This record gives sequence, structure tokens and C-alpha cells, in this order.
Amino acid sequence: MMSTPVTVVILAAGLGTRMKSRRAKVLHRAGGKTLVEHAVDTALRLAPAERVFVVVGYQADEVRRAVSTPGIGFIEQAEQKGTGHAVMVGRGALEGLGGRLVVFYGDGPLLRAETLRRLIEAQAAGDSGGALLAADMSDPTGYGRVIRDGRGRAIDVVEQKVATPAQLAIHEANMGIYCFRSELFWKHVDELRPDNPPKEYYLTDMVKILAAAGHAMEVLQIADPEEVMGINDRVELAKVDRLFRERRVKELMLAGVTIEKPETVTIDADVRIGMDTVVEPFAQILGRTTIGENCRIGACAIVRDSELADEVEIGPFTIVAASRLERGVHCGPFARLRMQNHVEEGAHIGNFVELKKTRMGAGAKASHLAYLGDSQIGANVNIGAGTITCNYDGVAKHATKIGAGAFVGSNSTLVAPIEIGAGAYLGAGSVITEPVPPDALAIGRARQVVKEEWAKKRRALGK
Ligand code: UD1
Ligand code: CA
Repeated sequence: MMSTPVTVVILAAGLGTRMKSRRAKVLHRAGGKTLVEHAVDTALRLAPAERVFVVVGYQADEVRRAVSTPGIGFIEQAEQKGTGHAVMVGRGALEGLGGRLVVFYGDGPLLRAETLRRLIEAQAAGDSGGALLAADMSDPTGYGRVIRDGRGRAIDVVEQKVATPAQLAIHEANMGIYCFRSELFWKHVDELRPDNPPKEYYLTDMVKILAAAGHAMEVLQIADPEEVMGINDRVELAKVDRLFRERRVKELMLAGVTIEKPETVTIDADVRIGMDTVVEPFAQILGRTTIGENCRIGACAIVRDSELADEVEIGPFTIVAASRLERGVHCGPFARLRMQNHVEEGAHIGNFVELKKTRMGAGAKASHLAYLGDSQIGANVNIGAGTITCNYDGVAKHATKIGAGAFVGSNSTLVAPIEIGAGAYLGAGSVITEPVPPDALAIGRARQVVKEEWAKKRRALGK
């Protein structure tokens, strides 16, 4: 069915005035991604990158930059002269590609590729010019109305502004999502005229033009109108964001993830989670995070752009960013893994421990109150409470290296660059500035002084 090649054009040149923003509408985020990224991801499920085009205008460079997939084409529409004009300016790039021309907007991120596939299939019949997506709405105010012929095909779309009272009474609204037969589209596109109050080239006029040429369009009624909800202001942005997250959470639950109080949890579109993992209330799992099976993500934890193997446990109120955690690692509650950490199998990061660019060896432990930055920590090292790596001298960052099995006493201060040998012991409260050889004991603190009776004498003096 999908043997005819498909080209996708995403219209994203407008500012979106009602957003009341200095940023183009499609740069706003819902479900963890910019709206334009959602649109491109949907398009890529139908066509290869070389056949996906984004029409950019307002903040064209920023919109280009927001699209990270290589190979996507951009069509510059310097002046926004209407939805028809937006496609027309791409003629040079698009006309030669043939096949089907699918057009939709960059501001409707809930649209499913599956729906577009059905739209493409809806126009398979012999002489139709294509197919458009419509919805029966109780209040279609603002939408173009679909005018059908006796056979049920669309022969016109009439915009709200120019519709007659009889046309306004039609409840079937045009969703602005089309699949055209490319060859027919380009053959007739020059017939578009800006003969309407805003003097725009309306893409909707193609319906009338194609019908006049004997190619009325098929109409596909959308089952779930929420799917085509476009975003015009920030209230709608928030609503779509919520729908997005509900959709994602539901997919994950059906795939075997337990999500407690799902209405409180935030999980971005590209997150993957394995079976039997439990996500507690108010957790946020963001960006390109992958979580294995049988993990637990604690209440109010935030995990971003990280990779968690199986059996990992993230305690409540813990933040994990851009880090890799191997099987059986335990973090938190109240831990912070800032970035580029690699925690090996079975290691334990306890409460109020911060890690930055640190590798914790298998079975290593930092159970309470520590800062470990720019550090290589060997297997089974024990980091006592209050340990600090002094990795910054005010100018540059320096590394700390601790060999396997070393024992770092509580409240140690490790002045980097520094190396502690495997199996060494550091006395509690030490300030370590010199390298410690393997298996040695290092104590770097003032010797304790005891002054007998000192307190008693002081009291006697009445002080
Ligand atoms: C359009 C349809 C209307 C349909 C509605 C569904 C037309 C004339 N009307 O109206 O029948 O019911 O969508 O939402 O097409 N854009 C560009 N360049 C332009 C103009 C628009 O890229 O020159 C983009 C905008 O960024 C926007 C989208 O196209 O995302 C829709 O444009 P808009 O002007 O909002 O069309 P509607 O008035 O909503
Ligand atoms: Ca609109």
C-alpha cells in the first residue's frame, strides 16, 4: 500500500501571535520536545529524511537548529503569504519527487503517523486528487468547512471568514492535514489566487481547483479529534503537554511498567523503560533516558538523559543527569549525579552525595554526605561521610584517583590532583595533599591535645 513514495511537508513558518512569545511557536515544548521536533519525528515514520521538508520563516535559523536529524530539507518562506504559498515556495525541491505529497502543520504534536498512513491509503481510489483529514466538531468556529459532493468527496473547503450562513452550519471541519497526488498538485498549483480578505494563497483552495479538474478529494474523518489539536496559546500548550504525557504513561504501563499515581509522573516521549520497573509518584524521567528492567525510580526523583541498567534503584528526591548506572546500582535518597558519571555494578551512592564527572567502581560506596568530582574511584572503595574532593583551585579542575579497595575515612579532604593507592587507608578528618602509596595509612590532621582539668579551672576563675 505504501509503495508510492511519500514526501512530507511541515508548515512551520508562522510566529504564532497568540503565544505572546518572542520565540516561534514551533520552538515551544510539549511532551519534552519542541513542537517542530515532534512533527519531524512523525514525518520520519512515513518518509526518509531526504523526503521530509520543513517550511521555515519566522526565526528560520533557530527552527533549523532545533531539528537535529540530518538530511531534513528546509524551505525558506520569507514572507508568510498563506498555507498554499508555503508549499508553493518549495516547488523547486518538491515537484520532482513525485508520489504523494503529505502536508501538515508543525504545531500539532499529537498527530499520529498511523493516522497519516490511513490518510494516504484513503486516496488510493482512481481519479481522486488526494485526501484530507476532517473532524465533526460540535463547535467548528474558526475552521474551514468541508463541502462534499453527492459521492461524499470534498469539492471545496470554505474558510470561516468567507463562509455563507449555510456553510457555517456545517460541522465538518478541515484539519489542515492533506495527502495530495504530487503530480496533480503541481499541475494545478498555479491556479491558486490570493482572492480572499487577507490576500493569502490558501492551500484549501486546492480542493476546489482539483475538483474542477475532475479530481475531488477523499475525506477521512478522524476518530479522535484530540489527536489533531493544534496549539495556539500557552493554555493549549499545557493541555497538549498533559495529553502527551498521559499517552506516554499509558503506553509504558501497557508495556509492563508500574507507574504509581500516573497523573503526577512526567515521562518524555523518547524515554524507554523495561518491564517490572516501578516509577513512584512525581518522578520525572526526561530526555533520552533508557531504564532497564526491575528498577525503581523513587518519588520526586529526576532522571535526565541517562542510561540505567537492570535492577537499579533511584531513591526519592534524587537527580541523575547525563550519567550511566550499571546493574544493581543504588542511588539516593537525596543524591545528585550531576553529569558524565559512570557508576559500575552494585555501587552505592547515598544521601546528600554529589557526583560530577566521576567513575565509581563496582561495589564502591559513598553512603552519606560527600562531593566527588573529576574522580576515578576503584572497585569496593569506601568513601566516608563528609569526604570532599577539592577538584578546583580557582583556575582549573584537577583529577582524583583512588585505587580499588581503599578506605577513605570520614571528613577527608582530598586536594587534587591526588592519587590514593589501592588498599590504602586515610584517617578520618585528613587533609590529603600528597600521594598515598598502596596499602599505606595516611593521616593528615593536627594531633589531638588534651589539657587535664582545663575546663574546671576556667569555671573556678568565674569566666
Ligand atoms: C488552516 C486552514 C483551515 C483549517 C485550519 C486547521 C487554510 C487557508 N485554512 O487555517 O481550513 O481548518 O488550518 O487548523 O489553510 N503557515 C506557514 N506559512 C504561511 C501561513 C501559515 O507556514 O504563510 C503555517 C503556520 O505556521 C501554521 C499553519 O501553517 O502552523 C496554519 O496556518 P494558519 O494561518 O494558522 O491557518 P488557519 O487559519 O488555522
Ligand atoms: Ca491555526
